[in-house]
Parts: sequence; structure tokens; C-alpha cells
Amino acid sequence: MGMNENCPLAVIILAAGLGKRMKSDLPKVIHTVGNRTVIQRILTATSVLKPKLQVVVIGHKGALTEESARAGSSHGHYSLETIRFATQSEQRGTGHATQMALPELTQFNGTVLILPGDAPLISSETLSALIAKHQATKASVSLLTFTLPDPRGYGRIIRTEDKSAVSGIVEEKDTNTETAKINELNSGIYAVEIDFLREALPKIQTSNAQGEYYLTDIIEIAAQAKKAITPVLLSDNREVLGINTKRDLHMVREAAYQRKVEALIESGVDFIDPRSAYIEEEVTIATGAKIGPNVQILGRSTIASGVVIEGTAWIKDCSIGEGTHIKLGVRMEDSSIGKDAVVGPFANLRPGTKLGDEVKIGNFVETKKATFDSGAKASHLSYIGDATVGKDANIGAGTITCNYDGYNKFQTTIGAGAFIGSNTALVAPVEIGAGATVGAGSTITKKVSADALAFTRAPQQEKAGWSKSKREKSKK
Ligand code: UD1
Ligand code: CA
Repeated sequence: MGMNENCPLAVIILAAGLGKRMKSDLPKVIHTVGNRTVIQRILTATSVLKPKLQVVVIGHKGALTEESARAGSSHGHYSLETIRFATQSEQRGTGHATQMALPELTQFNGTVLILPGDAPLISSETLSALIAKHQATKASVSLLTFTLPDPRGYGRIIRTEDKSAVSGIVEEKDTNTETAKINELNSGIYAVEIDFLREALPKIQTSNAQGEYYLTDIIEIAAQAKKAITPVLLSDNREVLGINTKRDLHMVREAAYQRKVEALIESGVDFIDPRSAYIEEEVTIATGAKIGPNVQILGRSTIASGVVIEGTAWIKDCSIGEGTHIKLGVRMEDSSIGKDAVVGPFANLRPGTKLGDEVKIGNFVETKKATFDSGAKASHLSYIGDATVGKDANIGAGTITCNYDGYNKFQTTIGAGAFIGSNTALVAPVEIGAGATVGAGSTITKKVSADALAFTRAPQQEKAGWSKSKREKSKK
């Protein structure tokens, strides 16, 4: 179902509410779910629909909401070009909030998509299906509905006697024993023709339990005027979970990553224990990757096919190439790894690490701003920072790049095929030529030429019989 390209779209996001039930000083829309705030998520979803204009209605601490909405654009999720902010200084209900957006839409003609600011899991696919159905049925207003076994907290959909048409919405606080039982519910998401919206909003009254202007009343207004109303039933209820309390916020967070893991399983990623995998939504994992227990993959990480992540890993903004094996207990950030590499167990790849194909980083190795060309190895107990390591170079256990003199950072360059003996200190700035060997236990402060051997060691001494005579003396 595609949207009609010729029918212009505008978006109104209602985000002025106090969110009293959150017990927080912050507007509810700036709480985070995954790596984005609620308002950023909604704008990301709506922006996919390419609306002409998007009006965010702000109120309580609105400056914070506006700041968060603007900040989201700099992460590349959407552009601010179409986004406007309208203020509702007194929270008099969702109908009133919608009215506050209209002055920004005086030049607009077409369909308006209205969303609450507190349902962050809504997807652009669902929204475009709603709009497509709305336009295909030539409705004045369409609404996204869903069902829940326990309907509490949501507006109930009232249908005509033969159930074929929607005739109104009753808010929780206005229900009677009969209507309270209805479990077809209002998501708070509507597609409305702007002409009808302009006509209906002024007709909303405040004669209800909360004394508010309910946007939901436009349904009854449409029904009475015999306008077409199209209900669209949602398939995945999690998309419209609204955040009213801290408990809801945690439910939404859980639903967000559950949904991600389910989608990955569906696409052929193999999880040993899906419940203990925490994967943020922008992460991509190719079919055939295997993810062990207790793994967090965050930010914009990309994991290629055939990658194995054994378990207990924290991975943020990294790319991992085909067939690479990440062993138990790895932390990596802002790093890239080529194909068929092996990292860990217990390795720490700090930002700026670039590992080529078939590189090996073993246990207790820390890297930072370090480039390893293909086939290079640091298998045990090393710190390699501000360094480049050439192809197939071998870094012995306990090698340290001494990159910092207490004031400045300096660079270490290790040539292709070089062999650095165990327990070597490379005092930067320093260069080890291609094919050179450094003897174990050396402290290297000067350039080592290609293919040379360099070592700095006190000559070994031996005192014959020393230990034996010490033992005998101590017996007396
Ligand atoms: C609303 C719907 C309800 C629906 C539910 C879905 C109404 C009257 N009720 O109830 O039928 O089932 O959403 O989640 O619309 N807001 C303003 N200004 C205001 C009041 C609210 O901007 O004066 C904003 C809030 O910030 C929020 C959104 O509108 O983002 C919805 O308001 P909320 O108070 O959460 O409505 P619900 O009681 O959840
Ligand atoms: Ca709500």
C-alpha cells in the first residue's frame, strides 16, 4: 500500500503535556528510549513520510523539548527544514493543543497526521499504511486502533449498533460500566483532512470528567456530520504503547529492544540467548552472524555475516567484517575490524582502532588510535596506542607503546613484518623499520632500521654456586 504522492501531508505532534504521572521535572518527550529521546524517535518516523510541514506543540518546559528535537537533526535522523514549534502555554487538552498548531498550517491543504508525543515506538510503515488507507477510503478522519486484554488507560472506541462503523471515543474517566469493558482502543494517532479539522476543532466542548478539550471528540463530530471515518487496526500493539509513568517508560524501552532482536532473529541472525542481547535499533547485523549471551551492540554498529560474538561484549559504533571472531569479554568503541580477524578474550579496543583482515588481538590487549594492517598480531598483554602496525608484524607479550610523556602524545610506527620481542617498551615518537627485530625486554628510544636487530639489555651475569651457598648458610 503506497501513499498518494500528489496528496500533501502535514504532521502535528502533541508534546505540550505536563506528564504529571511521570514524577519527573523533565518533559516526558525528552526521556530516552535506546539512543534517542522520545521526540527524536517520533520525528524520525514521521520524517520518512516526507511531510511538507511538521508542527511540534510544546508547553511545559518547552525549550527543553525544542532543544532535544533540534539536536536529533544533527545526528542525521531528520532535517529541521520542515519542522516548526507552536506553544500551548496552558494544557487544556489534546483538542486545544491541536488548535495551537493550526496557525502554522494556514497555507496548507491536504492530510494532517496527528500523533501524541508520548508513543515513541510508532513506525513509519504503520503511519504510511494509515495515511494510504485514509486516502484510499476518502475519509475525513481515520484513526489507528488496537486491542488489549486490559484496556485501562486508553480511550475506548464506540461503534454503531451493528459494529460496522465508529461513532465516537470515550475516555477512561468518562466510561460507564458498559463502555469501560470495551477493548478496542484509541492509539491517539489520526489522519485528518485539514478542512474537516479546521471545522471540527472549534466545536469541541469541555463537558467531560477532566474539563478538557478532547481531540477524541472529532470522531463523534464527524459521525454526526455523516463524514467518513476509517478505523485502521494495528497489528503490533507495542508500536502505540504510550509513556504515562516511569513504569511505562521501562516497558517501552524493553519493547524497543525486544522488537529489534525479534526482527534480527527473523532475518536469520543466531542468538544463543535473545533475552540477554541488547541491540540498539540502528545496528545492522547480517544474516548468519552468531551472538552469544550478554552482548550489547550500540549506536551505528554494523556486523557482517559469519561474525561470531562469543558473549559478554560491549560494542559501540563499530564495524566488524565477515568471518571475524570476537571472543569472550571484549569492549570496543568507534573501531573497525576487517575480515577473519580474531579479537579477545578480554580485549579493549578504544576509539580509533582500525584492524585489517586476519589481524589477531589477544587477551589483555588495549588499543587506541591504532591501525593494524592485515595479518598483524598482538596476542597477549599489550598497550598499543597512537600507533601504526604494518602487515604481518608480530607484537610480543607485554609490549607497551609509551605514547605519553605526561604532556603530549607521540606516534609509534612499526613496519611490515617487524617482530617486537616480549616486554618491550617503545618510547614514542619512534619508528621500527619493516622486517626489523627488537630483542625481548628492550626499551627502544631510537629509530630501528629495516631488517636490523635492536636490543637494549644489561649483559647477563652468573655467580656459580651462589644459591647453594646461601641455602647452606641459612640452615645453620
Ligand atoms: C490520549 C487520548 C486517548 C488515547 C491515548 C493514547 C485524548 C483526550 N485521549 O489519552 O483516547 O487512548 O492518548 O495514548 O486525546 N498534550 C498536549 N497538551 C494538552 C494535553 C496533552 O500537548 O493539553 C499531549 C501530551 O503531551 C501527550 C499527548 O498530548 O503527548 C497525549 O496526552 P495524554 O495526556 O498522554 O493523553 P492520554 O490520557 O494518554
Ligand atoms: Ca498518553
